[in-house]
Amino acid sequence: MKYNLAIIGGGPAGYAAAERAGKKGLSVVIFEKKELGGVCLNEGCIPTKTLLYSAKVYDNSKSSEKYGITNTGTSFDLKAIIRRKDKVVRKLVGGVAVKMKYASAVVVKESACLTTRDAEGVHLMAGNAEYIAENVLICTGSEAVIPPIPGMDAVSNTILTNREILELEELPESLVIIGGGVIGMEFASFYNSLGVKVTVIEMLEKILGEMDAELSAMLQESYQKKGVDIHLQAKVVEVKGNKIFYEKDGQRSELQAGKILMSVGRRAVTEGLGLETLGVELQKGGIKVDEQMRTNVPNLYAAGDVTGFSLLAHTAYREAEVVVNNLTGQKDTMRYGAIPSVVYTNPEFAGVGHTEKTAKAAGIDFKVAQLPMAYAGRFIAENEGGSGVCKVLVGARYGEILGVHMLGNPASEMIYGAAMAIENEMTLRELEEVVFPHPTVSEIFKETIFSF
Ligand code: NAI
Repeated sequence: MKYNLAIIGGGPAGYAAAERAGKKGLSVVIFEKKELGGVCLNEGCIPTKTLLYSAKVYDNSKSSEKYGITNTGTSFDLKAIIRRKDKVVRKLVGGVAVKMKYASAVVVKESACLTTRDAEGVHLMAGNAEYIAENVLICTGSEAVIPPIPGMDAVSNTILTNREILELEELPESLVIIGGGVIGMEFASFYNSLGVKVTVIEMLEKILGEMDAELSAMLQESYQKKGVDIHLQAKVVEVKGNKIFYEKDGQRSELQAGKILMSVGRRAVTEGLGLETLGVELQKGGIKVDEQMRTNVPNLYAAGDVTGFSLLAHTAYREAEVVVNNLTGQKDTMRYGAIPSVVYTNPEFAGVGHTEKTAKAAGIDFKVAQLPMAYAGRFIAENEGGSGVCKVLVGARYGEILGVHMLGNPASEMIYGAAMAIENEMTLRELEEVVFPHPTVSEIFKETIFSF
């Protein structure tokens, strides 16, 4: 069984590569030991956004009076919420299988492993069969990090990761979230909406890592007002049963939790692939690649979370495209300067390009403008009592767009416009000539541009 391209892993990088490569006429085999769709479709982006949408509908329903809608009683059924999430996942996973069929990609439901590389190509074993491919793309993704904290060395009934928490059909009495990153804040948002007492313990001085500091603080404050306890610069040092011990300012404190969510980061899945056999180089735990996603071994590529670099499905899609384009004679390189980050809290928070912190660190001379979301009429129309901000960073000399950060709904749907501007090195002057549809919340971007 010889193919032009063998792909290990059927997540966003893998299925996108299979689809593109198949459509471009390459013979493709894709190995997936679990379900097509990977973490994103099965236990990440899609199920969490489905749950969060239910929470948003519930929130909106509870506050419908603000919009002149009388609602005589709002309640939710967690089991039904989970069932809907499962239905959405099944539908999309089924959709990926159909895409594979259209692309004539052969799907093998087995774990694959690299065995050798010779004049024939790269050899792989999956199940009891051997496969040979001219090129191999590794996209085995990432898994939750279980930190070496005493008492927290394994997932249990109480200690959950992003995977197990998706299946909870009973609301926990309380939820303590270790790690105030993206996963932590999105689950804080979901359980807070459903009325669970949520506490977030974050080691650093801010939530949401590298996201804009000022907007992160605003989001933090809005969740604190909604009753979420957020402890910053607090480090969890021990877990005993459902008790969590953390240190802050040199003091040890204790918390009791119905459930504990561990969301302290993810790491690349590189084990059991035979990488050592072929001498594939790793870097910071992920597979080392160049800007065309090539590993140090000829004909061997890697894309997506397994590179350990940018753990985002949309990065994975683009990396996969870079691989396929180069394999099919279209020179392409991966660029990471305009990859949007989105946090699906309510309100949503999105950013792309430089923050003030990274621009300063890079020694860039820049200017900043920011406006409340309320400058966009549509935002007022649809967000009774809501607030938010749009912040734009431009180069001081030429006015090129360096970074855009938005807090307010629907930031997730607006940020791509800013990504296009940054990717295409657009300037303030050029953006001023773009016509934005009215009335839309996205006009806030244009308003902010004009406020420089
Ligand atoms: P993360 O890296 O975003 O956040 C982990 C947080 O845990 C950090 O802020 C870190 O300081 C903190 N932490 C680490 N050890 C700690 C300790 N002992 N005590 C207290 N805090 C501690 O990782 P997260 O949230 O697990 O997400 C993993 C990846 O998944 C991210 O890279 C993210 O890009 C991706 N993801 C993206 C989503 C999106 O695009 N909306 C949604 C969910 C995940």
